[in-house]
Formats: sequence, C-alpha cells, structure tokens
Amino acid sequence: MTQVRIRPETPADIDAIRDLTDTAFAPMAFSDGTEGACIARLRADGDLALSLVPETTPGQLVGHVAFSPASAGDDDEGWFGLGPVAVLPDRQRGGIGSALIRAGLDRSQASGARGCVLIGSPAYYRRFGFAADGRVSYRAIPTRNVMWLAFGDHRPAGEMKFSPGLE
Ligand SMILES: CC(C)(COP(=O)(O)OP(=O)(O)OC[C@H]1O[C@@H](n2cnc3c(N)ncnc32)[C@H](O)[C@@H]1OP(=O)(O)O)[C@@H](O)C(=O)NCCC(=O)NCCS
Repeated sequence: MTQVRIRPETPADIDAIRDLTDTAFAPMAFSDGTEGACIARLRADGDLALSLVPETTPGQLVGHVAFSPASAGDDDEGWFGLGPVAVLPDRQRGGIGSALIRAGLDRSQASGARGCVLIGSPAYYRRFGFAADGRVSYRAIPTRNVMWLAFGDHRPAGEMKFSPGLE
C-alpha cells in the first residue's frame, strides 16, 4: 500500500469534493443523498473545522474527510464530529480513507481537541480507536453506531450533538 499524503482543501477543490462525496455515498443503502450538501452547509456556516483531501494526481480528487465542532454528551467543549468521509468507489480499499481519518484525528489532537464523535460502522471505525459502548447516544440511532474517541482521560456520557450542517 502506498503512503498517501494528506493536505487541507483549497477553493479549487470545492466542487470536486461535493461530486466525489455524492458519488461515493450513492450506492450506500443508509445514505439520504445529502452528504455533499452537508459539507457545503458546514463550510457556509463556518463549521468546516478541518477539510482534508489526499494529494494525488493534480486535477483528480479521489477522497475527502470533514471534521466539525460537536459535543459529546456532558462534554460540550473541544470535540469534533468526524464526517462525511468518502473515497471514490474505484479507489476504495487502498488505504485512502484510513489516511484521511488518521490525518484528521492527528491534526485535531494536535490542535488541543478533547476527542471525536461520529455515527458509523464499528467494523470500520474501531481500527482508529473509536468505541461504541452505549455511554453516548444520538436520537434513535442504535448505540452500536454512536462512536467516540477521547484524546485524554475523560469518558463522555449522554446525548451527542453535531454542527447544524450535519443535523
Ligand atoms: C468508508 C470509506 C471512506 C473507506 O475508504 P477506503 O479508502 O476504502 O478505506 P481503507 O482502504 O482505508 O480501508 C478499507 C477497509 O475499510 C472497510 N470498510 C469500508 N467501508 C466500510 C463500512 N461501511 N463498514 C465496514 N467496513 C468498511 C473495508 O472493508 C476495508 O476493510 P479491510 O481493511 O478489513 O479489508 C469508503 O469505503 C467510502 O467512501 N464509502 C462510501 C461512503 C461511506 O460509507 N462513508 C462512511 C460513512 S460512515
């Protein structure tokens, strides 16, 4: 597997990020087709705290991950929501998604964040250290899909909240 270099988005990436996100989520049964629009709304609201893409062939964007402010139950300062994250279907399973997520977690932690929360599949996100232990909840989502990763000792509990662009 080749090493994937990750960089922040530039204005030239914005349309391609929306397109690739819509393309990647289209086959997913759980998708409501709004993921690309969610990223645009986060950006418009000033809530796109981190927006990362892989450095690949110029002019060809194949992946993206967004991080935005969130609260983790009783802990409402310094947490980020991870997502949407997407890799073009014909480039999946090549480590790009993992590289994007690890880079985002590293940058969040380095900036002093307390942790990250997300809604997702434990089969995928456990490898990054996320737990789904029922301590945090989100609306009627099954708690096995409500995941958190603390960068320090604090273990959050309660209902998590995302930026309005993701709600
Ligand atoms: C999820 C996604 C970003 C992963 O990107 P990627 O570049 O393929 O990921 P990596 O190559 O780093 O990792 C591949 C591994 O993730 C697993 N994986 C990918 N999507 C998964 C999912 N939804 N559930 C469980 N495992 C998943 C693959 O089976 C593979 O597992 P393996 O390492 O045991 O073989 C990509 O599959 C994608 O864009 N999916 C459509 C959009 C989506 O579902 N986003 C996440 C919403 S929670």
